[in-house]
Amino acid sequence: MSDDRIRVGVIGVGRGRSFAGGASDTVGMKLVALCDQWEEKLTEAGEQFGVATYTDYDEFLQHDMDAVVLANYFHEHAPFAIKALRAGKHVMSETAANTTLAEGVELCRVVEETGLIYMFAENYPYTVFNQEMRRVYRTGEIGAVTYAEGEYNHPMSPDARLRIAPGHRHWRNWIPSTYYCTHALAPLMYITDTMPKRINALSISCPTAEQQVTAVGDSGSVILCRMDNGAVFRLFGLVLPGHSNWYRLHGDQGAMEITRGGGYYGPGQVRIWHEDWNMPEGAETERVYTPEWPEHGELASQAGHGGGDFWTPFHFANAIRSGEAPFLDVYRGVAMSSVGIVAWKSALEEGVPLDMPDFHDESNRKLFENDHWSPWPQDAGPGQPPPSIHGFRDPHPTGLAHGREVWKEMGYTGEDI
Ligand SMILES: NC(=O)c1ccc[n+]([C@@H]2O[C@H](COP(=O)([O-])OP(=O)(O)OC[C@H]3O[C@@H](n4cnc5c(N)ncnc54)[C@H](O)[C@@H]3O)[C@@H](O)[C@H]2O)c1
Repeated sequence: MSDDRIRVGVIGVGRGRSFAGGASDTVGMKLVALCDQWEEKLTEAGEQFGVATYTDYDEFLQHDMDAVVLANYFHEHAPFAIKALRAGKHVMSETAANTTLAEGVELCRVVEETGLIYMFAENYPYTVFNQEMRRVYRTGEIGAVTYAEGEYNHPMSPDARLRIAPGHRHWRNWIPSTYYCTHALAPLMYITDTMPKRINALSISCPTAEQQVTAVGDSGSVILCRMDNGAVFRLFGLVLPGHSNWYRLHGDQGAMEITRGGGYYGPGQVRIWHEDWNMPEGAETERVYTPEWPEHGELASQAGHGGGDFWTPFHFANAIRSGEAPFLDVYRGVAMSSVGIVAWKSALEEGVPLDMPDFHDESNRKLFENDHWSPWPQDAGPGQPPPSIHGFRDPHPTGLAHGREVWKEMGYTGEDI
């Protein structure tokens, strides 16, 4: 395993640390470099992992390595991915793959031009429950999907939220409520192998939660996706009180879900049920059971995010070795990220239905190659959308005063304190 390990560098030493730790012999990877502009955190991580460190991304890309994992800011992944691909590196990117439609078009084109591996690092499809539901779905037991629900709603205490969003212009404070939709959608696309075609959405503001932090975006949303087989998927998130990470699918011959309750990492089971007048041969009316990992259970059960953090580097490494695109390829990554963008366009018009781009089709891509519609603080201004259905807001004074205390205490010195 030693000499042919894939040499990988990671940018972003917050979330990126779990990838740094995951680049192990077990998946045939070796961490060789880290990059972060926050020097104090970078030095600490460099010492922890004993690898080269860079504060400058361009210099980092010159390091002798095969692949780059992007765990930099949520809204800056596409330009960083494009640079890495052009520098000859395979890329695995955290969510979101792109935060404008133009970025999505360019990213697909650059992956095609370079022929390198691009993997979207969605980890929620790879929990033991979602892998089991994919296995069952593929046996045909519930038939073809007609309706599904995915929920990723992850509220945090005000202090915890402020600590992961330093500076009032941090992406977590500005994010429109539909943009973090991939944790809700990716497992459903993985289980059913469907693609989103048409979207509508409504945004939900929760002023009592928003005033405790420095959020200028809304707290939640519901997105409806018409999928390419005609099914409807309902997605719910993002930080409304009442934790939920949950998935349910109805097919034309039955249904399945993760049992409710237990919060984020709750002790779920898989439940599969049928109508007694519509039973597939040999099936039971209802069964509820604790699923098992398809393989590597010992390693996966120790990894973060319900085991998902083991499987993303595992599949990335396998894709690089085989030269075959992973399931979470650039087209699925860009499509599921773009659901958040199209949904925000819809939510700002109180739910108007809108078509999704087809990122496989160059003639369709041409229609979106100049679509730089962007809700992020650096682009705010005429012609650009606000991050809330209330328009452009300032952070609530109570939240901002508290945020400043928290950020100073954690050593944040940015101009937007
Ligand atoms: N899949 C998951 O379960 C999961 C969990 C947490 C975070 N994430 C994703 O990981 C990404 C990072 O999130 P985070 O929680 O670490 O917080 P974050 O976005 O605040 O951290 C980003 C890090 O990248 C660094 N960075 C940003 N721009 C840089 C640049 N130009 N050069 C060098 N360094 C730069 C920042 O200093 C910071 O340390 C986000 O996309 C987030 O959505 C995913």
